Amino acid sequence: MCGIVGYIGKNDAVPVLLDGLRRLEYRGYDSAGIATLFDGRVESRKRTGRIANLAELLQQSPAPGRIGISHTRWATHGGVSDENAHPHHDRSGRLWLCHNGVIENYATLREQLATDGHTFEGQTDTEILAHLIGREYDALSQPAGKARIVEALRSALKQVVGTYGIVLMHADVPDCIVGARRGSPLVLGVGKGENFFASDVSAIVAHTREAVYLKDFDIAVIGSEDFEITSLLGGASGFEVSKVEFTADDVSKGKYPHYMLKEIYEQPDTLRDAMRGRLSREDASARLGGLNMTARELREIDRIILTGCGTAAHAAMCGEAIIESLAQVPVEVEFASEFRYRNIPLPRNTLVICISQSGETADTLAALREAQRKGLRALGICNNVASTIARESDGGVYMHAGPEIGVAATKSFTSQVAILTLLALLIGRIRHISPMEGLRIIEELEALPDKVRTILAQSDHIRAVAEKYAQSKAMMFLGRQFNYPVALEGALKMKEVSYIHASGHPSAELKHGIIALITPEVPSVVIAPDDSVFEKNVSNIEEIRARKGPIIAIGTEGHKARLRQVADDVILIPACPDYLAPILTSIPLQLLAYHTANALGCDVDKPRNLAKSVTVE
Ligand code: AGP
Repeated sequence: MCGIVGYIGKNDAVPVLLDGLRRLEYRGYDSAGIATLFDGRVESRKRTGRIANLAELLQQSPAPGRIGISHTRWATHGGVSDENAHPHHDRSGRLWLCHNGVIENYATLREQLATDGHTFEGQTDTEILAHLIGREYDALSQPAGKARIVEALRSALKQVVGTYGIVLMHADVPDCIVGARRGSPLVLGVGKGENFFASDVSAIVAHTREAVYLKDFDIAVIGSEDFEITSLLGGASGFEVSKVEFTADDVSKGKYPHYMLKEIYEQPDTLRDAMRGRLSREDASARLGGLNMTARELREIDRIILTGCGTAAHAAMCGEAIIESLAQVPVEVEFASEFRYRNIPLPRNTLVICISQSGETADTLAALREAQRKGLRALGICNNVASTIARESDGGVYMHAGPEIGVAATKSFTSQVAILTLLALLIGRIRHISPMEGLRIIEELEALPDKVRTILAQSDHIRAVAEKYAQSKAMMFLGRQFNYPVALEGALKMKEVSYIHASGHPSAELKHGIIALITPEVPSVVIAPDDSVFEKNVSNIEEIRARKGPIIAIGTEGHKARLRQVADDVILIPACPDYLAPILTSIPLQLLAYHTANALGCDVDKPRNLAKSVTVE
């Protein structure tokens, strides 16, 4: 949510900043801006809309300089306009700032600054922050230099309530950029004769694979040859230079027209990577050392709470069904945004698991902290290794799915469900799953990547189905048992990328009200694999057919003939046990949403109003 890139070094700043912004555009695309420092003055360029608009402006009106900061915005405070685009400056026009996060007390600070005679160009909380730091800077008597700017920042941030990842530069101090974080991610890229700041390492991985993931309350100052990290609370702050796991190629679209399609096609590999080294035939179980829990501690768990947002919450719902079925441990799913404010009973032996691709979702992070505050063990299932949730959790499992850039989550969903299945196997084996049964589950898990390939091979057929229904005003997604969460996820994917209204429901709930919406213009996608409720699903299909509603059935190869009798269109998956069906049934729905959006000419990777990581509440 909002992307920041800062650069200082031997090269022109603008190409580095623009390239970084393009790679961060998934974090927000309402407006973009750049400020560079050249010859003692700041040049700034801002434009509403995509990075391409800013690039065009920079072509017409170049901004020279080897030091610069830049931002791509997802609007929170203040509408989408050129004035509200970052970077923002202070009263002197010499201090410039980009910010990701929310300054909660900005209205009070704005009033105080206005009383002191400050005037503002826009309505953002960030502009207030720039003025506040500038006021502190001007009030200091020490000579211009890094120490003064850091002192001003420190004193301003102590007055701020809220979250921030910020980079700033001052025309008086042309040999450094200063960054700080609290609650919003910021990474320092260590180069040779150049250094970087970015919200996400994918923005700078083309230039360096050495990174320092800043912690809350860190203040970092980068020059072209060196950097220094201190703490807002005083003194030096410990840090580690980490090797970035992926390369610039991993964050490119490669041969695919969209990241979403690339990521859908990566799933045979990402599923394998989620399971790699974690299945033990010797134990007939899963090995998840990162949980930091002994078998005895796992045995003592009476209840599990799975929490996350959006797609991660749907993966959690799949996990609920899988863990309860395989491990027989009661599981509850809470939206992280609700969990943080609810006062639910949390008995001692409750284990909380926070699921988040980015590991930075504000609501999920708050849920993690709330669980820990209440004395519970809180684990994380994250993709982003250096993320805040990964660092603050008491243990967890990494997804190893590689960067997910498409705003619509795809491969992260199947990886999350696969990891929750490993957890179910592990907990189940400690309780009642026999070694024979454990081995059978392992074999089924290992067979998944090939099964996914057979589904991906049907992409052309799914495209034809998508084109047939692309003009629909609404769509229903129906599923039962393990596949009810998949219906929710299928509807979310369709809404996000194609803007067709879609809703997911348990198939049998249809007759309790939803059936009123069925008409020949409203297609229903019924997820009906070969499971214990297949016949029930067929009955639900018949009810829709009787009202002339078109039906797209997602079913198992062995039921091809039967499904073709009752459905208008059929998409097939290979046979699998009930508990693994969500991983397979979700993939045709991802492709259906993708092809529908394409048929409608929607921007698949950057759907309107959305951002990839929701780092504000
Ligand atoms: C899914 O397509 C969405 N973009 C969104 O619901 C996402 O899953 C949610 O914001 C959670 O993100 P996280 O996994 O990074 O925490």
